[in-house]
Amino acid sequence: MIPAQKTQIPGPLSASLRARLRRWESRNVTFLSAEFPVFWERAEGANIWDVDGNRYLDLTAGFGVAALGYSVPAIAAAGSAQLQRLSLGMGDVHPSSEKVKLLEMLSRLTFEGWGKGGAKSILGCSGSDAVEAAMKTAFLATQRPHLIAFRGSYHGLAYGALEATEMGEFRKPFAMQMAGRVRFLPFPNCWQCPWGKGARSPSTCDPGCRHALAAELKETFAGNSVGAILVEPMLGRGGMVVPPDWFLPLLRQTADAEGALLILDEIFTGFFRTGPRFACERWGVVPDLLCLGKPLGGGFPLSACVGPADLMDVWPESDGEALHTSTFLGSPLGCRMACAFLEELEKRRNSLAVEEKGKRLLAGLSDLAFPGSPLRRARGAGLFVGVEITDEGGWPNPSFAGGLLSALLRAGLILLAGGSDRHVLSFTPPLVVTFDELDWSVAAIRSVLETELGKHANRAAQPGSFPRSMSKL
Ligand SMILES: Cc1ncc(COP(=O)(O)O)c(C=O)c1O
Repeated sequence: MIPAQKTQIPGPLSASLRARLRRWESRNVTFLSAEFPVFWERAEGANIWDVDGNRYLDLTAGFGVAALGYSVPAIAAAGSAQLQRLSLGMGDVHPSSEKVKLLEMLSRLTFEGWGKGGAKSILGCSGSDAVEAAMKTAFLATQRPHLIAFRGSYHGLAYGALEATEMGEFRKPFAMQMAGRVRFLPFPNCWQCPWGKGARSPSTCDPGCRHALAAELKETFAGNSVGAILVEPMLGRGGMVVPPDWFLPLLRQTADAEGALLILDEIFTGFFRTGPRFACERWGVVPDLLCLGKPLGGGFPLSACVGPADLMDVWPESDGEALHTSTFLGSPLGCRMACAFLEELEKRRNSLAVEEKGKRLLAGLSDLAFPGSPLRRARGAGLFVGVEITDEGGWPNPSFAGGLLSALLRAGLILLAGGSDRHVLSFTPPLVVTFDELDWSVAAIRSVLETELGKHANRAAQPGSFPRSMSKL
């Protein structure tokens, strides 16, 4: 399906752009190595072409943004028409009609749809913006300074959102500046149980874990300083973790009992990524505030914090100076593209077959977890899937994962690794990916794995075994 690549990967044009980028971009931003990155030139469906003419299948949907794939005609047409008519407005002073239309759609698709009446939103330009708007709203509503978030969470890297982001090393260099507003509790990751119950799956979760978390929540709420629980319904960047069924309902009950708000960050899981329109619908849980982003803008940077009108009205009426706004808030271009995306998504939702595709991918990846393979613990919901890369003892093996990503890129697959140890291969392909493309991807991963395991088998005395913490492939 993917034709033979035209050049080595990365090709000469990518290599030359890499050298220029190294000179002009702050060095922490783009990961540069002999094997990364390839510079994209155009994209269509789930396919990317780089500047050297090589073609890839993007199994990340560009960080989960391209839910309907790339170059969607309806979104492109709406965007081009809007660009020519009115590309910017004065978002919080003299907005455009597109903003009103988008706000109405967001209300209909969320709280109105859940029977909770009309919703109001604060738009933003990034996921961090939406999370920070939710954090401020929660404080205005409860007047309690602290919030609960979870280990392994990723809510963005702007200073406010970073307070609630626990995964990885992001907070470390700035730790002294963290305001200490957030209390972190364990996220129930059944594959690495934080309460020491051993590796299970969410369906066989030990009931003791629910009691353990309930006790920790109770303790954290004592003192009455916690006003909100902020949580991803499924950990995304933190390792593609689907929690057991008791988790979200427990948070809902606890928030209700404590007079606190439940903020769901569905920036990654929203818009049918995990099967239902929003992941919380799987458990019938309605949040107090909902953070949306990534695919929402149809490729334009746009996010939203959405809440029921009576809750959002804790914000005072603007007296001409908004307490929370930004220059590009409610961009007509972004709002028009978002409306086009939402219309197209709703039109095509029944043909996307997200659950079926997810099952096919998961089954394929589970087959690759054969004895001697570094792939283990495949898991996910819908097209939100992860598989761990481990050493022979079952421990995270980030160096092998990094090498595997490079080898897969050479084979024509764009993938990312997540989790705090960067050892979870994460699959969030465009929802329009085809069954054939998924089958092809699994076959390509198998072939890359077998080659690499074969190489190592030849090198090692024991055929098929693979060493602890392999260096780059
Ligand atoms: C769940 C979640 N929340 C928030 C964010 C932050 O979004 P952004 O990078 O647009 O600020 C992300 C980004 O990956 C995310 O996955």
